[in-house]
Amino acid sequence: MLGCAGVFVASAVSPCVVTAQVKTEPAALYKDAAVPVDRRVDDLLARMTLEEKIMQLCQYTAGGNTNENNVEVKADHPLTSGSYIYYGTDPGFRNRLQRRIMTETRLGIPAIFAQDVIHGFRTIYQIPLGQACSFNPGLAARACAMAAAEARRSGIEWTFSPMVDVARDGRWGRISEGYGEDPYMNSVMGAAAVRGYQGESLASGVSVAACLKHYVGYGASEGGRDYRPADISDRALWNTYLPPFHAGVEAGAATVMSGFNDISGVPASANYYTLTEILRNRWGFDGFVVSDWDSVRQLVNQRVASDDADAAMLAFNAGVDVDMADGLYADYLARLIGEGKVSMDRVDRAVAQVLKLKFELGLFDNPYTPEVPAEERVLTPDNRRIALEMARESAVLLKNEGNLLPLAGKRIALIGPMADDGAGLNGNWSCHGVAAETVTFRQALTRTFPATVYARGCGFDSISSAEISEAVRAAQEADVVVLCLGEMPKWSGENGSRSTLSLPDAQERLAAEISAVGKPVVLVLTSGRPLELRRLEPMAGAVLQMWQPGTEGGTALAEILSGEVCPSGKLAVTFPYSTGQVPIYYGARPNARTGGQGNYQDIQDAPLYPFGYGLSYTEFSYSNLRVSAPAFTDPALPVEISVDVTNTGRCTGKETALWFVSDEVSAVARPVRELRHFEKRELQPGETATFTFSLIPSRDLPYYTPDGEPVLEPGRFTVSVAGLSIPLDYTPAH
Ligand code: NOJ
Repeated sequence: MLGCAGVFVASAVSPCVVTAQVKTEPAALYKDAAVPVDRRVDDLLARMTLEEKIMQLCQYTAGGNTNENNVEVKADHPLTSGSYIYYGTDPGFRNRLQRRIMTETRLGIPAIFAQDVIHGFRTIYQIPLGQACSFNPGLAARACAMAAAEARRSGIEWTFSPMVDVARDGRWGRISEGYGEDPYMNSVMGAAAVRGYQGESLASGVSVAACLKHYVGYGASEGGRDYRPADISDRALWNTYLPPFHAGVEAGAATVMSGFNDISGVPASANYYTLTEILRNRWGFDGFVVSDWDSVRQLVNQRVASDDADAAMLAFNAGVDVDMADGLYADYLARLIGEGKVSMDRVDRAVAQVLKLKFELGLFDNPYTPEVPAEERVLTPDNRRIALEMARESAVLLKNEGNLLPLAGKRIALIGPMADDGAGLNGNWSCHGVAAETVTFRQALTRTFPATVYARGCGFDSISSAEISEAVRAAQEADVVVLCLGEMPKWSGENGSRSTLSLPDAQERLAAEISAVGKPVVLVLTSGRPLELRRLEPMAGAVLQMWQPGTEGGTALAEILSGEVCPSGKLAVTFPYSTGQVPIYYGARPNARTGGQGNYQDIQDAPLYPFGYGLSYTEFSYSNLRVSAPAFTDPALPVEISVDVTNTGRCTGKETALWFVSDEVSAVARPVRELRHFEKRELQPGETATFTFSLIPSRDLPYYTPDGEPVLEPGRFTVSVAGLSIPLDYTPAH
């Protein structure tokens, strides 16, 4: 046990903690803000003892642990820790702890305070899976910047976000935390999130360091069950799971978190190939890697480490720089160095990365968060506006038979367990969101449609005949039913796996009873995953997927139902016809047999709603697809491909053009189509706009070999958009 690992906030002095009388040199270079960061790092590193260095690589908690999945580890608070997961909202508490660190430790190295700010801090906006459906990375970046400002001004400098794990199994609850099934979507949205969180400068006082997680392959957890192994071929690793992390690194992400899962037998938190060879050596990542909660110690559970010391050695030598929560680096790194199992050079490199971020965050120069009243820093009208914009743009209209929507001047029966549930709209990982501050569907609809009558009808997983009767009566007296079904927050997110994508029987039964009344039904869904809707969908004239839209979710729904806002979201994840089809995603490789052979015998082959699906109140037609040159010889030069899009309907709406590429014949089977570009624009009725994909062959057409080498084969490619397609031929110049 390392000397200072046992020093806690309340404890007596130890070799690593000195009283304020023992002053450091006033002229220390590392304290001089005018000196470049790398020199400050070198200077400080040279002054540090081994114990002080190791403690920079340890992360503990501060404040009450509010994440019930963060279990079974120590929750101590050594003053010398490099960073804390801080569960508070109060900059005052954080400042008091920081002040002790600055004044009572020998070198006064400030701590970084971190938190899971996943989709908002106090103002909660749409979950990442829903954000992806907005196809609006600019808006996602603004939302992340807003969350960053709320968090930073409340004492947080580091968020464990974005999650860019490609996820193709909706049973996995954490599908809600990422940007869906497609590598390109995760790349674009993840990079936007990094830019939003980190802003122009980490020291700005309104930005936070981002953390790409969970590196890598966690989304492939077997059977969608959490914390399970992932069987991933090197080809799939390079083509599917790594690209979003690479994009996030390119966008400048300050940190990366290693995953819980194993990758074909080698745990992600002990994986030298992914953590060092790829992340550091090939991509040149110069931030640091933090383990996931307890994932170092879990190497023992995964049976690749014989004991805790072995686990610490494996993780650290593989490339995990900072140990989250389990304390094994504090307990064993010094011993491992003594035994020659860990090198001092590796320790110095890891510590230097941690110190670098602290300097970049401005913590040495401004260690304390200005203490302003909560109402000035969180839930401001501007922040609510961003949450509203995101809730509007991410809603996906899945069905609208006979233009049932919008509903003008109708008497609504508002029914369902989600109709008046602020916590449900905030969803999983809602940080410091407060249910009572969220505009529920009921509150907003009652304002917009004053004749609205509400009846809950059933619980999320329970039903009573009294509640059904009340709901049926409400439906009988209304013109239209708005039926709000969905998932409780804990049904998705971490440890939120479910065996089926269907909603519970209670909710399906309520829908059947209401549908039997014979009034038109608008089904409004709130969930953290794609749902199986094959029994519910026929009962509804309209289906609107709201995801977990956050603080302004109710307002967005009222605007969409009234027609004030035209829905423009498209699915970033496939909705299967049946859970049994999982995994089902658009980017699959081709079937060896044609003519429908090999499909399930008992159900349709097609999903209920495919990737990219989403309706509007207006209509768009695509025409005149054209390419600047039908063939190319230099893959570095862009090829311009354009299409005209016309709003042929009666209202203003936003349309997203999704551009896919296909390799007609290649040495290895590739996905039938791969998304490579998208663009969203607003069009007035009758307006035509040209959407352009500036395709760069060397960027957009290759696939990766199992060694991670990009290969661009000569031959024919096809570029498609909205059902139109155009060939593009590659003949190398020599
Ligand atoms: C475990 C989760 O997997 C991770 O995403 C999260 O950031 C940490 N706990 C910290 O709460």
